[in-house]
Amino acid sequence: MRIVDLRSDTLTRPTDAMRAAMAAAEVGDDVFGEDPTVGALEARAAELAGKEAALFVPSGTMANLIACKLHTQPGDEVLVERTSHLYRYEAAGFAVYAGVSVALIDGTRGLLAPDQIAPVMRMHDVHQARSRLLWLEDTHNAGGGSCYPLDQLAAVVEAGRANGLAVHLDGARVWNACIAQDVSLTAIARHVDSLNFCFSKGLGCPVGSVLVGPRPFINDARHIRKMLGGGMRQAGVLAAAALHALDHHVARLADDHRHAAILAEGFDGLAGLRVRRPVETNIVLLDTSASAYTPMELVGTLIGAGIRCLPLTATTVRLVTHLDVSRADVEHAIATARDIVRSKIPPSP
Ligand SMILES: Cc1ncc(COP(=O)(O)O)c(C=O)c1O
Repeated sequence: MRIVDLRSDTLTRPTDAMRAAMAAAEVGDDVFGEDPTVGALEARAAELAGKEAALFVPSGTMANLIACKLHTQPGDEVLVERTSHLYRYEAAGFAVYAGVSVALIDGTRGLLAPDQIAPVMRMHDVHQARSRLLWLEDTHNAGGGSCYPLDQLAAVVEAGRANGLAVHLDGARVWNACIAQDVSLTAIARHVDSLNFCFSKGLGCPVGSVLVGPRPFINDARHIRKMLGGGMRQAGVLAAAALHALDHHVARLADDHRHAAILAEGFDGLAGLRVRRPVETNIVLLDTSASAYTPMELVGTLIGAGIRCLPLTATTVRLVTHLDVSRADVEHAIATARDIVRSKIPPSP
């Protein structure tokens, strides 16, 4: 059976060219600061973001945790969107390892508006946690790959700063935002104090993320990374994959976005399924509430025919396009779904 795997953009396998770059990497012990390829990657990431320094880490989750820990003290509070990856999908690491609380804000497709900051700020009072950090996510995963328009990003950040908050951007998929909006990484990164982005998602690497920010912040991040067990030795083989991805896999994200748009057209209205609009990048959310299916049932039906996808919420199924999904795969997924996904059968009289 032909398989089209739309569960996540983390499923990509390294291309032959990427594997060749990995095999050829010059390496050293990066915990000793002696891996030249990791050094080159960190310098490149910092330059692309227009920040002073960068740190290569094993995962987006670790980058987020380190950022959370460095911007706060235990007992502080982070202002974060309710469906953010930090809050929903990182096993409450922020609470366990950074010792912080969260003030949850309901975004629109995961995105915050400037007037949502002041109302959740805590009073300066011994009874209260201290509001310290504003946490943004771009593109927003559970929001359906949504991107902050730059003026909205600037305004939200300004509202945070006016309230004395530091600002971190979880940019696991920020390159998708850059491509969708045709802006440089610097144009986004200049608004925030620190950010991270992942190589292991749309960029198609097996492992790795980078945390970017001011040099003292990154020096401290290196210390926390070691504490968390994230110091890697001959990590140049992984950094070489990341450098290869920056050279070859950024512009092609536009293909993933086109494929997502085709999927959206193909699935919208099928047996009562509704696509959450707009579809801006590589994530398509299907709302099942007006269909005969629960997300689990729909996913089960599609998987049975080789079309893999994920239930996201009680009413949502997620489809993600990536390097290992071609236009033909997307068309096959739509044709298959049209064959097997059935409309609601009206109850018999
Ligand atoms: C927005 C966002 N942030 C962080 C992460 C965590 O990345 P990792 O899986 O590398 O820990 C993800 C993973 O999907 C994500 O979507």
